[in-house]
Amino acid sequence: MSPVDWQEAWKAGVTPWDAGASPPALRSLLDRGVVPAGRILVPGCGTGYDLATLARADREVVGIDLSEDARTAFLEAHPNLPGSVDYEVTDFFAYVPAQGFDFVWDYTFFCALDPDQRNSWSQTMERLVEPGGVLATLLFPFEDPISGREGPPWPINTDLVRGYVEDAFEALETAAVKHTHPGREGKERLALWRRREP
Ligand SMILES: C[S@@+](CC[C@H](N)C(=O)[O-])C[C@H]1O[C@@H](n2cnc3c(N)ncnc32)[C@H](O)[C@@H]1O
Repeated sequence: MSPVDWQEAWKAGVTPWDAGASPPALRSLLDRGVVPAGRILVPGCGTGYDLATLARADREVVGIDLSEDARTAFLEAHPNLPGSVDYEVTDFFAYVPAQGFDFVWDYTFFCALDPDQRNSWSQTMERLVEPGGVLATLLFPFEDPISGREGPPWPINTDLVRGYVEDAFEALETAAVKHTHPGREGKERLALWRRREP
């Protein structure tokens, strides 16, 4: 079990991670045409800014989070979005959708999990991303080398995440990020992973 009681944090309004908008790196991926049409998943989506940013007529966007309060905040902020947008209050690790996803966006989810949950994170990603689909990780807070600082957010870097995904995913792109939320400058890296065909 995660040492953080996420539902309680949301209920108490203690959400220091909430930047109030999608990160510029997601907008840049959209501008570059990297995000496909089809089924998109955002695990640990919080207030769901990224669901709104990703919403488009030809996409089925699904956000999942443990918190009913986060879902309520999302619904209040985004009553009308294009395409299909579904926010499910459920545990990522137990989530079994009817179909897999073409694109999964992880921002501040991997780093929020207890390190003991990382193997389950990669096994769940392997199960949820369709062969040929893309797992996009915007790594924050990026450290190289990784310090001993305890999280969440736990410091992470590309090699760390690669170690968890490389059996099932190949690296498509790893890149520094030019624009970030204020205060996160230099602490984000983008890493895109393609799910190998079986
Ligand atoms: C650090 S917050 C990031 C939220 C959002 N991505 C953002 O950038 O604002 C991590 C989120 O993951 C959710 N979460 C933690 N464990 C989860 C799990 N097992 N399944 C689904 N959501 C989870 C928490 O409730 C929280 O909203």
